[in-house]
Amino acid sequence: METRVAKVDKNSLNILNEASVLLNSGALVAFPTETVYGLGANAFDAEACRSIFLAKGRPSDNPLIVHVEKPQDAEKIAYTCELYYKLAERFMPGPLTVILPKRDIIPPEVTAGLDTVAIRCPRNEVANALLKTSKIPIAAPSANASGRPSPTSAKHVFDDLNGKIPLILDGGECEFGVESTVVTLKDDKITILRPGSVTPNMLLEITGKVEIASAVKEELKAGETALSPGMKYKHYAPRANLYLIDDSSVDFIKYVKLRQNEENCAIMCYDEEISLLHNKNLLPVGKKQDIKKQTKKLFDLLRQADDISVDTVYAHLPSDDGESLAIYNRMIRACAHRVITSDADQNGGRNGKG
Ligand code: TXA
Ligand code: MG
Repeated sequence: METRVAKVDKNSLNILNEASVLLNSGALVAFPTETVYGLGANAFDAEACRSIFLAKGRPSDNPLIVHVEKPQDAEKIAYTCELYYKLAERFMPGPLTVILPKRDIIPPEVTAGLDTVAIRCPRNEVANALLKTSKIPIAAPSANASGRPSPTSAKHVFDDLNGKIPLILDGGECEFGVESTVVTLKDDKITILRPGSVTPNMLLEITGKVEIASAVKEELKAGETALSPGMKYKHYAPRANLYLIDDSSVDFIKYVKLRQNEENCAIMCYDEEISLLHNKNLLPVGKKQDIKKQTKKLFDLLRQADDISVDTVYAHLPSDDGESLAIYNRMIRACAHRVITSDADQNGGRNGKG
């Protein structure tokens, strides 16, 4: 199959119509959202949704998110509640996904047999125009091949899915760069299953009870069931061994300088550290305090780390609070919890603590 990449904005009526016809006829279309690119299918079409799993090589027990044009469109698909509408009023359209009990109209292929469904109302104007034109809810996971970092540009999607889908809508780079915050609700309590650009503090403005699921920061224990199936997968792991260094900038520099001449390694460093390191494989993440930029660049840098064949990648351990929690969560899983602590350097070895 030939994969066409078409530049779009919300006024590209012809191409949006074409994408809608494809979706309504059971085909897949990749499209931009404010978080990452999605691989969309008609959420009412079981066969089309099955083909998402095939195109991505995605395990069939990992459910999809259903995208809707307006928060109230969830009524057709799920059983909503007061807290859903409180969240919708504040964060929708936007980078938040809410898990709700599902209605029968949504086929089990979408929810991987679960009795809940994930609802998201994206604010990217191409995504929104596509939902409006196609007049259907769109089931869409991130548009990467399973196991690769989520795509934040049409090129990333093309690199992973060329030949497997008919159309990629190219709306430029994604605004946020990490996937949406996924939450589940119980009475007046919100539990964060996956951190994103809607932070725990932002959710605390809606209700005083906000919990972070343990799998966000820690490894699942043997035999433990994941609240969100996606959390049980190793997810993205670079081809090289990624180590996160839990230390000050000074000691980070000291540590990697000791190794960069002997090892075939890449270094994800802050912009301020570029002039202190002389490595041909520097992957600058942005300024130390610029979490938004670091978030936006994260998946592209991890893809770059795969493209240059190195054995090892060193990076800072991100902070695990506030806006940085989303980066922490993606990086800690990408490195399989290999964190180097400061005493490791004194031992001359690698004391992975996780
Ligand atoms: O930003 C995003 O959320 C992007 C864009 C395209 O919207 N989508 C995305 O989808 O990241 P995906 O499939 O890559 O991640 C969806 C996550 C998975 O971890 C999945 O297990 C979880 O949401 N999920 C989906 N439905 C669920 C459900 N009913 N219960 C628990 N977790 C669910
Ligand atoms: Mg994904």
